[in-house]
Amino acid sequence: MTDLNTLTNTFYNERDQEHYLPTFKRFPVAICCGQGSRVRDMEGKEYIDALAGIAVNNVGHCHPKVVNAIHRQASKLMHISNFFVSAPQVELSERLTALSKLERVFFTNSGAESVEGAIKIARKYAHSTGRGGTIISFHGSFHGRTMATIATGKKKMQEGFDPIPSGFIQVPFNDFEAVENAVTNETAAILIEPIQGEGGINEADPEFLQNLRSLCDREDVVLIFDEIQCGIGRTGKLFAKDIYGVHPDIMTLAKALGGGVPVGAILSNEKVSSAIDFGDHGTTFGGNPLVCAAALATLNVIKEENLVEEAKEKGEWFGKKIRQLNEDSIVEIRGKGLMIGIEFDFETKPLVMEMLKMGVIANATSNNVLRIVPPLNISYEDLQSIIDVILKAIEKVKAHA
Ligand SMILES: Cc1ncc(COP(=O)(O)O)c(C=O)c1O
Repeated sequence: MTDLNTLTNTFYNERDQEHYLPTFKRFPVAICCGQGSRVRDMEGKEYIDALAGIAVNNVGHCHPKVVNAIHRQASKLMHISNFFVSAPQVELSERLTALSKLERVFFTNSGAESVEGAIKIARKYAHSTGRGGTIISFHGSFHGRTMATIATGKKKMQEGFDPIPSGFIQVPFNDFEAVENAVTNETAAILIEPIQGEGGINEADPEFLQNLRSLCDREDVVLIFDEIQCGIGRTGKLFAKDIYGVHPDIMTLAKALGGGVPVGAILSNEKVSSAIDFGDHGTTFGGNPLVCAAALATLNVIKEENLVEEAKEKGEWFGKKIRQLNEDSIVEIRGKGLMIGIEFDFETKPLVMEMLKMGVIANATSNNVLRIVPPLNISYEDLQSIIDVILKAIEKVKAHA
C-alpha cells in the first residue's frame, strides 16, 4: 500500500532533482491535476493558473471537449507517420490555412521546431531567387532552444554552445532604420514576434511591422511572424498579425494550438512554399492524428466559447484595474488581450514566489516583468483574485526589501 503521507510536493521535487537535467529552476510544488483556470498540487492546495503552462492552456486545463476528442481519437488511431494522410490532419490543414490565409502548412512537435522549419523554408526560397541565407531577428526575441533558434536569440543563451550556426544577425526591436541598414543581398528573412513574450511582453509598433512588410516586398525577403506565444486568440485576435493588418509570408505556431498536447505548425504562402521539394523536410510525429484531433477540438472551443473576444475584453478589464491601483512600484503595463506584462521597479522573481504561496501561479520574464497569461476562459472572479494577490505580494516584497 502506498503511504499517502509521503506523496508530498517535497517528495516529488527531491526525486526530480536526482534525475532530471538541472536546466529548469522549478517551482517547489508538484502539480497533480487541473481544471479550467485552476490546478492542484500533491498536497491538495489549489492555485489559480495565471501562467497556463506558459501560454499553452488557452482553453483551460482539461477542457472536456478537448479531452473527449483525445479519448475518441486515441481509441481509433494515434499515429501512422506522414507517409499517410489521416482525416484529422487534413481537416486541421484546411482549418489553419483558411484561418490564417496562408496556403501551406507543415506540422511540428514544438515551437522551436516550427521556427527551425520556417528558417529552412525561407532559406530554400532565398536560394532559389539567388539571395543569401542570413536571418535577421531582434534584440529581446525568443524563438526556442535548438541550435538555430538560439542563434536568433539572446547572447546569454548561446554561451557554452559554440560553434553557433552562422547566418544570423540581430538588430534592435522597433528600429526600422537598423533593419534597413542590415538588409543586403545576403538576407533571406526577417523573423519577428509581433509581441515579444519572453523578452518582457514588448509590442511591435504597427508602423514598424508595416515598414517591414514593404521592405520585404521590395527586396523579396521573407517575412516570418513567430506567433507561438501570441497566437491562438491570446491577444484578442486569433493571430496577432490581424491586430496590425500585416500579413507575413510565414507564420509559426505551437503552444496553445493543441490545447495541451504538443503540436506546432508552420504556415507559409504559396510563393515561398513553392521552393520546397520532396525530401526537403520531415518529421516522424509532427501532426499525427492524435494531436491534430486535439488541435481541431481546441480551435472549435475557441470559436464556440467566443474566447478571442473574451481575451480582448478580459485583458482590457485587467489592465484598467491594474492601472487604477496607482501602485508606485509599477513602471508600465504592456500587452494585448490576455498577454500581459507588468513591469516593476524591482526584480519580479520574489514577487512570483510570494504569489505562489498565496495560490497564484505566474512568472517573471526579463528581470522586472510579471507575466500574466491565464487561460482565455478564466472567470472575472479569478482575475480579480490575481489582482488582489499581486497587491498583497507587492506589500510582502516591499516589506522584505
Ligand atoms: C515566441 C516563441 N517562439 C518559440 C518558442 C519555443 O517554443 P518551444 O518551447 O515549444 O520550443 C517560444 C517558447 O516560449 C516562444 O515564446
